[in-house]
Amino acid sequence: MVDLFKPYRIGELEIRNRFIRSATTSAWSDENGVVRDEIIRYYEELAAGGVGLIIKGHLYIDPRGKAHNGMVGIHDDRVVPRLKELTDVVHRNGGAILAQINYGGYQASAGERMGPSDYAGKGWQARAMKPTEIWDVVEKFGQASERAVQAGFDGVQLHAAHGYLISQFLSKHANTRTDEWGGDLKNRMRLLKEVYLDIRGRLGPDAVIGMKINGDDFSMDGFTVDESAQVCHAMASVGIDMIEVSGGGIGAEDEYRGRGRHTDPALSEPTFGGHCEKIRATTKPKALALVNGFRTKAAMQAVVDRGIADLISMSRPLIREPDLVNRLKEGQEEASCIRCDACHGENAFSKSMLRCRLDNP
Ligand SMILES: Cc1cc2nc3c(=O)[nH]c(=O)nc-3n(C[C@H](O)[C@H](O)[C@H](O)COP(=O)(O)O)c2cc1C
Repeated sequence: MVDLFKPYRIGELEIRNRFIRSATTSAWSDENGVVRDEIIRYYEELAAGGVGLIIKGHLYIDPRGKAHNGMVGIHDDRVVPRLKELTDVVHRNGGAILAQINYGGYQASAGERMGPSDYAGKGWQARAMKPTEIWDVVEKFGQASERAVQAGFDGVQLHAAHGYLISQFLSKHANTRTDEWGGDLKNRMRLLKEVYLDIRGRLGPDAVIGMKINGDDFSMDGFTVDESAQVCHAMASVGIDMIEVSGGGIGAEDEYRGRGRHTDPALSEPTFGGHCEKIRATTKPKALALVNGFRTKAAMQAVVDRGIADLISMSRPLIREPDLVNRLKEGQEEASCIRCDACHGENAFSKSMLRCRLDNP
C-alpha cells in the first residue's frame, strides 16, 4: 500500500505528500488583477493545513483573456510583488505552489471574444483568431511563466481544460479551422505544444511545467478520452512534468457526463477515474494527478495503489476543510464537503471571498 502522506518528487520539486489542491479561483482580486489580503491569508491557511502542492486559481495572461470578475492577473510586472507575498506564505508553511496560467478565449469576460473559430455555442459569441493573434497568445503565456518564477512559484500549470482557449483548440467541436492550427489532432494540439515549448525554452530544463487537461469535454463531436490519451502521450514525450486529468467545459455536460466513468465501484468515486486509467495506459509522465469527485480516503488510496494516478487532487473539499490533508492523516476517513456547489454559485462567485457556504465543518 502506498503511503499517501510520504513525500513525492515531480522532477526537481519534492512535495511533502501526494495531495494537491487543484486550481480554485478565489475570484477576489482587485480590479487590476492584484491579490487582496484575504487571498494571501487564505493560501496561508491552506498551506498550514498540510496539502503538498497548491495550484493557484487560474491567472489571466492578458486582460483580453480574463475569464471573470475578480480573476487574478499575471499579465503585468506590477502584479508580481503581491503574488510573491502569497508564494512566501505557502513556502513558510511547508507547501509548494504552481501558477495556473490561462486565457479565456470564447469564455473571456471582457472585450472581444476570440478563439480558434467563429463560434456561437453555449451562448458564447466569438470570432476566429488570426495566426498573428495565436502567436501573440503563445508569447503572453511565455511572459506570464517568467513572471510566475519571479513571483516565487515553483513552476506553472497550463490550463488546457474546462473549455478555455487551449481546450477549445484541442476540441474538434470548438475548433473547425482548416489551417495548421486545426483539423487533425496534431494540428489541434499545436497551440498547447507551442506554449509548452516556449515556456520550457524560457524557464529551462529543471522548471516544473504541468497541464490540466480534459479526459473528455462531453460534447458529441468533441474531445474524447482516446484523443486525450494521445495528447498526454505527446506532451509527456516532449517533457511535460505533471498531467492533471479533469473534464468538461465545452459540451452538453449532462448528456455525456457518465461517458468513460470507471465501472469498478472502488474506483468510480472520482468522475474521471476511467479516463485517467486509459491515459495512464498510454503514457508515463513524471506525475499523473486525478481531480474531481474525491471524498473518501479509501477511494484516494485505491486510485494510487492501482497505479491509476500518482497524486490526488481536490478543490471543493479543501474549500470546506482547508486542513483536510492533516485531518485525513490524523484518521478522518472522508471529506465533509457534499459538493453542493454553493461556493461556486451565482450568489457567491466573485461577490465576496471564496468560502464554504454551509455551516462550519
Ligand atoms: C470555486 C471554484 C473555483 C474553481 N476555479 C478553478 C480554476 O481556477 N482553475 C481550474 O482549473 N479549475 C477550477 N475549478 C475546478 C476545480 O479545480 C476542480 O477541477 C473541480 O472543482 C472538481 O474537483 P472537486 O470535486 O475536488 O471539487 C474551480 C472549482 C470551484 C468550486
